[in-house]
Amino acid sequence: MPARLVMGGQWGDEGKGKIVDALAEHAALVVRATGGDNAGHTILNPRGEFKMHLIPSGIFHAQALAIIGNGVVINPRGLLDEMATLRAAGIDLSGLRISDRAHLVMPWHPLFDQVEERSRGAGAIGTTGRGIGPAYADRASRTGVRVADLQDERLLSEKVTALVASKNRILGLYGVAPLDAAQVIEQYYAFAEQIEPHIAATEILIQDALAAGREVLIEGAQAALLDLDFGTYPYVTSSFPTAAGSCAGAGIAPTQVCETLGVFKAYSTRVGGGPFPTELTDATGDHIRERAREFGTTTGRPRRCGWFDAVAGRYVVRLNDIGRVALTRFDILDDLEEIRLCTGYWVGGEALPYPPAREDLWERIEPVYETLPGWRSDTSDIRALADLPANARRYVERIEEALGVTVGLIGVGPSREQLIHTDASAPMTAMAG
Ligand code: GDP
Ligand code: IMO
Ligand code: MG
Repeated sequence: MPARLVMGGQWGDEGKGKIVDALAEHAALVVRATGGDNAGHTILNPRGEFKMHLIPSGIFHAQALAIIGNGVVINPRGLLDEMATLRAAGIDLSGLRISDRAHLVMPWHPLFDQVEERSRGAGAIGTTGRGIGPAYADRASRTGVRVADLQDERLLSEKVTALVASKNRILGLYGVAPLDAAQVIEQYYAFAEQIEPHIAATEILIQDALAAGREVLIEGAQAALLDLDFGTYPYVTSSFPTAAGSCAGAGIAPTQVCETLGVFKAYSTRVGGGPFPTELTDATGDHIRERAREFGTTTGRPRRCGWFDAVAGRYVVRLNDIGRVALTRFDILDDLEEIRLCTGYWVGGEALPYPPAREDLWERIEPVYETLPGWRSDTSDIRALADLPANARRYVERIEEALGVTVGLIGVGPSREQLIHTDASAPMTAMAG
């Protein structure tokens, strides 16, 4: 049985955690494949409310192994804090597995993230400050420290000693106080002891599960428009949160994926800098932010809010071969009189059929909007498509047409059961053929 991928279709925070939590009921493995603790996935289920940063949302399902794959960059301090929070809530962590090939976020990575951001001035990316970019840069430069290094004390100590010496030279140029190698080594030895029981060759676990016909669910982090190549570069994250990137980050081949599910909010948000053609800087934007409590799960920053962008959405759908979509936070639009949908981009009097590579073009995009009537009623208790008001169904249909997808799930609230399965005969909990 092939794997299923769940990925973000916009700029993150679409509700991927909630969707994975809802879909993981029969999964044997739930895998995080990309990103690090820049991700913040909120889950509200019968066990409580949880903010997950590194541990896959499958940890709440007793039958599932929760895997942190090779493509993730792991801050061990953050991971241990997250494990402690879950343990305190009575969550069993015996199913947690951590790839020995995953890279570690080292103490110098957040420092570089912060000084580099400062030096960008007005062009700051607005990163989460977690050291994600520098950690991925070191991975590509072959100067990274991996989980496997935690299993070899001598190697870890040699690597850290050499790296601290070279990183301190650069930190000094930024006026940052030097790190103490002995302290870092001691700290990472302590992490090693606690993480050791969870370390595994996760790519083999995943391949064994697939070979045995068991269900594998990949929990995407970040989202397609934050992708290094296809996002709004340079205002992106430093990984590949696309379907292809998730395959690489889990150790599976593209031919082993049967379906990529896209998670899209019924409107748009982004945190940090960068272009956002449909951004609302008016009272409607403020209204959405307040109603939805759109503040970052990881950093608490206010999220920028705007209308649904079907031009960018269609691009993401095509590049990732998304057939079915989970449309989340639909209830947030409940009290709007009218709702807009961006179906075209104009730049200097010319139509732009897909998102541009050029930064100056992104900044000059004038969105073309379709205006639809709102439904002005509470959808949060609705569980069947037929019970949605006609105007709400019309909005869903327009998104389906504009994106060329089927909306399989509609989110009408934060908790696990606040979902409408639009087609009871082909629920998203079941695999597509
Ligand atoms: P993720 O990073 O994609 O997992 O998303 P976040 O957890 O960062 O942000 C999504 C927010 O929306 C969280 O606060 C969720 O609890 C909440 N949420 C998810 N789905 C829905 C929904 O359908 N309706 C409402 N009102 N909230 C939702
Ligand atoms: P989830 O998985 C929303 C954004 C940051 C910043 C840019 C680069 O919860 O959807 P980074 O720290 O990655 O170098 O920051 O990417 N960003 C996210 N925005 N949701 C996320 O994750 C994000 N992860 C990174 O705000 O603009
Ligand atoms: Mg999030």
